Amino acid sequence: MASHDPAARIADLRRRLDDANHRYYVLDDPTIADAEYDALLRELESLEAAHPELCVADSPTQRVGNAPSAAFAEVRHALPMLSLGNAFSDEEVADFVRRIEQTLDVEAPAFSVEPKLDGLAISLRYEDGRFVQGATRGDGATGEDVTANLRTVKAIPLALRGRDWPKVLEVRGEVYMPLAAFKAYNARALADGAKVLANPRNGAAGSLRQLDPRITAQRPLAFYAYGVGAVEGAELPPTHSATLARLRDWGFPVSAESRVVRGVDGLLGYYRDIGARRDALAFDIDGVVYKLDDYAGQREMGFVSRAPRWAIAHKFPAQEQATVLEGIDIQIGRTGAATPVARLRPVHVAGVVVTNATLHNADQIARLDVRVGDTVIVRRAGDVIPEIVRVVPEHRPAGAAPWAMPAQCPVCGSEIVREEGEAAWRCSGELSCPAQRKEAIRHFASRRAMDIEGLGDRYIEDLCDLGYVASVADLYRLTVDDLVDMKRRADERDGTTPETVKAGKVATKWADNLIEAIDRSRATTLERFLFALGIQHVGEATAKALAAWFGDLETIRRLPWPLFKRVPDVGGEVARAIGHFLDQPGNQQVIDDLLARGLVVTDAHAPSPKLRGGLDLATLLVDLEIPKVTRIRAEQLAAAFPSAAALLDAPQHNFVTAGLPAESAQALASWLEVDANAALLAAAGDAMTRLLALTPASVSTATGPLDGQTAVLTGTLATMTRDEAKARLEALGAKVSGSVSKKTAFVVAGEAAGSKLDKATELGVPVWDEAQLVAFLAANGA
Ligand code: IVH
Repeated sequence: MASHDPAARIADLRRRLDDANHRYYVLDDPTIADAEYDALLRELESLEAAHPELCVADSPTQRVGNAPSAAFAEVRHALPMLSLGNAFSDEEVADFVRRIEQTLDVEAPAFSVEPKLDGLAISLRYEDGRFVQGATRGDGATGEDVTANLRTVKAIPLALRGRDWPKVLEVRGEVYMPLAAFKAYNARALADGAKVLANPRNGAAGSLRQLDPRITAQRPLAFYAYGVGAVEGAELPPTHSATLARLRDWGFPVSAESRVVRGVDGLLGYYRDIGARRDALAFDIDGVVYKLDDYAGQREMGFVSRAPRWAIAHKFPAQEQATVLEGIDIQIGRTGAATPVARLRPVHVAGVVVTNATLHNADQIARLDVRVGDTVIVRRAGDVIPEIVRVVPEHRPAGAAPWAMPAQCPVCGSEIVREEGEAAWRCSGELSCPAQRKEAIRHFASRRAMDIEGLGDRYIEDLCDLGYVASVADLYRLTVDDLVDMKRRADERDGTTPETVKAGKVATKWADNLIEAIDRSRATTLERFLFALGIQHVGEATAKALAAWFGDLETIRRLPWPLFKRVPDVGGEVARAIGHFLDQPGNQQVIDDLLARGLVVTDAHAPSPKLRGGLDLATLLVDLEIPKVTRIRAEQLAAAFPSAAALLDAPQHNFVTAGLPAESAQALASWLEVDANAALLAAAGDAMTRLLALTPASVSTATGPLDGQTAVLTGTLATMTRDEAKARLEALGAKVSGSVSKKTAFVVAGEAAGSKLDKATELGVPVWDEAQLVAFLAANGA
C-alpha cells in the first residue's frame, strides 16, 4: 500500500495538491473543496516533518513562506523587461497599426489581444522544469529577487507540467489581487483592526515586496502569464498566441480573455467589448494590450528605447483622479445614521463629473485622516458610488484640522450619538428630524414596502418641505387638491413654469393617479406593513418571519421586546430595536392614524402553532437577558414559580430556595430592583399568557385550499407582478418554489415562460395560464 511507503505517499500528496492548484488557477475548474485541500496539505506537512530527507523546494508545503530575509538581492534580467507605449484614442491605435502595415507591407495583420492587468510585472525563471528564481521588473534591466515570496503564490507552478519544455524558460506575467479576494481581505482586516489595502494594485505590489514571505503567503495573490523572456534549449511556436497556449499546457494561468483579432477594427472591437464588461471582470484592468502575433514580424519591428514597436497598451480612462475636498456634509438616513459625504471640487473620473464621494463613516475618515482642504484621490469604478481612496499628504494646506463628527444633527439640531459597540453615529431626533422623516416616507412608499407607485423623491421632498406631510399616516389624508396646490407652490418657490398648467388648464391627471396609487396601497399584507414601518434591523425577511409567527398587527404592536426573540433568527439586538420602535408613543400614534385612515392588513391570522414551544417562563427569563440567569437557572426558577407574577412577588431568599446559587439570586434581585425591569417582566409575562390563549395548539389546522401544495411561477404575468401572485398563492396556503419537480402541484405560466414550463410538461405537472390563476384566486377570495 502506498500509505506505508512515505516517499510514495508524499509524491502522491504533492501531485494531488499541485493538480488542485492547477485546476483552480489554470483550468478554472476546481474539483476539491478547501477543507480537503487543507487536510491533504496537513498530511503532507506532517509526513515531511517526519522525513526531512524527503523535503524539496517545490513541495506545496513550501508555499506557506520561509523565514524572512533582511533585504532583496538584485537580479539582472537575462533579457530586459520592457514597458509599453500607450494609446488613449482610436487614432493612436490606428497609427500604431498603420506603422506595422507599412513597415511589414501587410494588411490587417493578426494581433494577440489581452487585458492589461493592474498588478505587478514579474519574471519567473525555470531551469529543467523547476522554478528557480523570480524577480520584479525593477528598472527593466535589474529587479529584486522575490523568489521566496513568489513560491507562496499558488497560481505559479513550482514545477512545469506537460513535456518538451526548454532547458531554461523565463515566463513573464502579472501578479495581481482578484477583486473578490481584495474585498474579503479588507473586510477581515477591518474586523481585526488591521491595516487595509488601498487598492488591489497596491495590495499585490505591497504583498510581493514583503521581506517576510509568511506575510505574502497570507495575501490572496494570483498570476497571469503574458509572455516569455529568455528561452534556451528548445524552440517556441512562431506566434505569441500559440506560445500562450503552450504556457498554459506547461501549467501557467493565461487570461481567458485573450483573443486573436485582425486589423484596427478587430483591436477596437476588442477594446469596446472588454470595456463594456470591465466592471464584471474578476480583476482590475487599466486597459488592453495589443501585440503583433507573429514573432518574425515582432523582430522586424524592433524597439524604440524601452518599448516595442510591435505592441501597445490601449488605456481606459483613469478611474482615479486627484481633486480637493471642499467640505464634509452629514447625511441623515432613515434610521438616523449620520453618514459623512465628501463635497469635492468637480473632477472628471472615468467619463463623468464627480462632485460627491462616500466616506462611509467617521472611522473611515479617521483611518484615511482626510481633512477639509486636502487633495484627495477619488476613485470611481463602474456605477459604484465614487469613494476617496487616499489623501496626498504633500498637498495638505497649513492649519487643516482633523475632522470630527458634529455634535448636532445639521437637519434638526438633535444630538448625534453613537451607541456602544456600534460603528454608526445617529441623529437622536428620530421622526422629529425632517431628514429621517423623508427617508422613512421614501422607504414606506417603496416598491417592496407599501408600493405607492409614482411617489418619487421629488414629491416626497416637496410634500415634507411644504408641510403637507409630516408622517407616513398623512399620506392617506392627501387629496387631489392638496397635490395640485403643493405643485403650484413648489413651482412658485423654484421659479419654474408650472408644467401642470397646460393651455390654461390645470393638469391634474398625475395627481389623480398618485391619489389612486395611495388608495390602492391601503390594503396590504402584514409583512409588507411591518417592513414599511422602517424599524431598524427589520428587513423583508424579518418582517416576513414576524408576520408568520405572530399573525396579527394588534398582537405584535403590544408585545414587549423579549418575546420577539421567539422568532427564529431574531436575536437580542433586533428584538430590542423592534421593542424600542414600539415603545415610542409617536410611532404607536402613527400606526393608530394609519388604521384610522383606512389601512387594512388583509392577511391577519392566529399566531403560528410553533410559537407554543417557546412560550414558557424559563424561556422568557432567558430571553430577558438577566445577568447570571442562564438556561439552567431559568429552569430552576420556572420549576419553583408558576408565573412571572409569582416570581415578581417572591422575596429574594426564595430564589435561593429554588436552587439558585447566591450569586445568581443576588444578580436577579438587583435586576428586579430596577423598576423598568420589573415592569418588563410583568408585561412580558402577561403578553405570554395572552399569546398562549391566541395560539392554536396543533400545526394541522388548515388555513387555505392550497395547504401543503407547492406552486411554481414562470414567465411574465400581465395583471399582477410575480411578487403579488406569490403572496396571493401563499395566502391560500401554497408554498411557492423556484424550481419544478415531480412534487410541484401546478405551474403558473405567464408570457414568455421558459425552461420551467418545459420541465412541467416533461414531468406531467399541471400548467395553469394566467386566466386560470386569476379565476382561482378570485374564487378563493385571495
Ligand atoms: S506585455 C513588451 N501584457 O503593463 C511587452 N504587459 O507598461 C511587455 N501588463 O510592466 C509587457 N498586462 O506590468 C504585457 N497582458 C499584458 C499586460 C502587461 C499588464 C503590464 C506589465 C508591464 C506594463 C507595461
